[in-house]
Amino acid sequence: MRRAAIGAALLLVVSATSAHASVEAGETLFKARGCGGCHKVNGQGGAIGPDLSNEAAKGHDREWHIKHFLDPSGVTPGSMMPRMVKTREEAGDLADYVMSLGATETAPAPEAPAPAPEEKTEAAPAREAAPAGEAAPAAPPAPPKAVVEAAPPPPAAAPAPAPVSEPSAEPSAERGQALFRKKGCTGCHSIRGQGGSIGPDLTFEGEVAGHDADWQRRHLADPRAVTPGSTMPPFRLSEAETADLIAFLTGLKHRPEDRALSAEAKERFTALGERLEALKARVARAHAKGRNVDDLNVELSAARTRVTTVDEMIRTGNVVGAEDEIKAAEGIAQKLTEQLQAFDAQLRDRVSMAGIVVAGLLFGSFVITRKVRLLVREWDAAEGEREARRARGRKGPAPSEAKQTPPPEVPEATKETSEAPPEPPEEDA
Ligand code: HEC
Ligand code: HEC
Repeated sequence: MRRAAIGAALLLVVSATSAHASVEAGETLFKARGCGGCHKVNGQGGAIGPDLSNEAAKGHDREWHIKHFLDPSGVTPGSMMPRMVKTREEAGDLADYVMSLGATETAPAPEAPAPAPEEKTEAAPAREAAPAGEAAPAAPPAPPKAVVEAAPPPPAAAPAPAPVSEPSAEPSAERGQALFRKKGCTGCHSIRGQGGSIGPDLTFEGEVAGHDADWQRRHLADPRAVTPGSTMPPFRLSEAETADLIAFLTGLKHRPEDRALSAEAKERFTALGERLEALKARVARAHAKGRNVDDLNVELSAARTRVTTVDEMIRTGNVVGAEDEIKAAEGIAQKLTEQLQAFDAQLRDRVSMAGIVVAGLLFGSFVITRKVRLLVREWDAAEGEREARRARGRKGPAPSEAKQTPPPEVPEATKETSEAPPEPPEEDA
């Protein structure tokens, strides 16, 4: 009994740790295979497939996930999710991972190998048997291809993606472009700035040496057979779809406007160069006036780097993205201009503040000087009068006083001046 209990506990611990390990393995696979090209997890990833952030709550059990990973459209008719796993073990790790998403803790229940649901029982073993052989993981392309080709077309009830795939029509780059979106290629590939970045940018795929129609056909049918280790999934494509995609891919080339800037862009680029030169001078002036210009210089050199990039693009005759660079540099120039204007305004405020203080001081001292002078003059005048009265009272100047008393005209003169407006304060300034 006791031993059984310990054994059970041990088993629980072991299975819990191994479940955890497989969640980690699944997460690693999820990243390595580029599932994020089509699925968002916690805000990261593409939007072609459902958001998986809360996959635990969807209620699919482990077996459902494994079957789905091994044969997406077998489980979800019409699914454009490609088969991206090699073995049942990988599918199991991925199942553990996606079932942990959004769950507080992975429930141990799904470990029980529930018998496969009725729906696809006949098809499932065959599909699982093929890739389960782990003998050759390095050369896995064959099984998926075989599976894909052997699989019957999705039932008619499925959301009909078929009409495009009618054969006999001439290959059309336009239909190819629509397919490119519909099949989820955009989840991993960018064209002219639109799309994911798990796979290479395909803007000029039609000019890549060696990537002719034949290469594209082989690559689409089985990416790993052409590019060993490729994480691009093999797609279930009809002959007509393949032809349309090839027409689209081989037509992805430079356009005339990719080789040289438009007249309008050229003008803007020239103006930008001049503006940055002017800004450089203004930054130097701001520096001379005491501003710390480290931040401005960082911005300035970021803008100049973009200008250099565009210069290089023009030189090499490939100006794709040049307008974005110009726009970004213009944005920086605008920001710099505003920062310099703010500094100038600050400086002006400081100068006018200082002006007001100086003017206030000058005015104050002028008023005081004037007041003192007036007082002195008034006092002088009063004293003069008193002297005169005293002199008149005595009727004869005393020799001693005569020396001190100024001549009679002086008081008058002083009086006049004291009534006159004050002299300009120039001498004080
Ligand atoms: C090219 C786009 C694409 C890629 C790549 C892709 N998926 Fe999907 N996935 C889909 C689409 C579309 C669906 C919805 C149809 C379906 O269920 O098959 C889906 C459905 C799913 C579901 C079921 C969601 C639900 O609850 O309905 C899971 C889980 C899933 N994908 C996981 C993965 C994993 C793991 C990988 C990488 C091995 C992957 N997907 C790669 C497009 C993609
Ligand atoms: C899950 C991500 C993913 C999806 C979805 C995907 N690709 Fe890819 N693709 C890649 C990766 C990774 C490479 C680089 C390895 C290789 O060449 O296979 C690549 C390479 C390519 C290349 C060769 C690019 C070059 O110049 O080297 C072409 C062309 C291409 N993919 C077309 C497509 C088309 C068309 C689709 C849709 C039917 C598609 N891809 C869907 C990941 C993806």
